[in-house]
Order: sequence, then structure tokens, then C-alpha cells
Amino acid sequence: MSEIEKTLSIIKPDAVERGLENEIKKIFEKKGFSIIKEKKIQIDKSEAEKFYKIHETKPFYNDLCSYLSSGPILAMVLEKENAVSENRKLMGATDPKDADDGTIRNKYGISIDKNSVHGSDSIENAKTEIDFFFSD
Ligand code: CMP
Repeated sequence: MSEIEKTLSIIKPDAVERGLENEIKKIFEKKGFSIIKEKKIQIDKSEAEKFYKIHETKPFYNDLCSYLSSGPILAMVLEKENAVSENRKLMGATDPKDADDGTIRNKYGISIDKNSVHGSDSIENAKTEIDFFFSD
């Protein structure tokens, strides 16, 4: 059964730096996502560590947190039926070289680190991640 869900999307520093925000937002809207909240911010490394806590045991954790805090990002709440899985489909594989044609990471991703977008991987994490950026 389809349900209206919310998910968190982040346009990462590599994409913001290249001025891709509007292009990527248009892709979401064209696929039927409503962007119901958005916030352009730069977070510091300790906030990035909190955001990516789920990855704290991974060997790439330190670089990942340095990277996310290296420049401005655009955090958005996307809404659509099955938003969590639909967004993950639209983003494509984590590593842009494995991402299918037509996906955001295939089109814009540079590397597994600079993969242009983040999207929540479950409904539960979507709630936590949305609260992280939009609790006020
Ligand atoms: P994201 O969807 O934001 O979630 C965690 C991020 O870690 C992921 O995108 C990648 O940019 C980054 N990352 C770096 N190395 C790896 C790796 N080996 N496996 C998975 N994610 C990685």
C-alpha cells in the first residue's frame, strides 16, 4: 500500500558549490515530490558527526563528517507517496559509478564521497534526520 511519507534530502557541498541546487530541486518536483521545507546552512564538524552517528564505526566516518561540514548544504523535507524509497531510487547507488542512467548521482556525482545528494534510508531515520534540521 502506498502512503504519503516525508524524507530528508540534502544537496551536499559538491553540488551546492557547482550551483546545482535549482536543477536538482526541479528533478524532485518533476518526479512528484513536494519540497515542503528547505534550509541552506553550513554545519560544523561536531554537528556532522551527530547527523552521521549511524556510520560512526565505519572507516570513512571522519572524512565523511569533514566533507559534510566543508561548505554550505541545502537540507529539504520531501513529501510524496513512498517518499523514502522513491527518493533513494531517484538518487541512485551511493557510488556514482554504479548509479543507473537518469539518477541524480549518475548525472552529478563525482565520487563516493562527493555524491551530490543524501537521502534517508528508512522511515524511522527520516523522522530523526528531519528533526535534526527542522526541529524549531
Ligand atoms: P550518504 O547517502 O550521504 O550516506 C553516507 C555517506 O558516506 C554516503 O552517502 C557516501 O557519500 C559516504 N561514503 C564514503 N565511503 C563510503 C563507503 N565505502 N560506503 C558507503 N558510503 C560511503
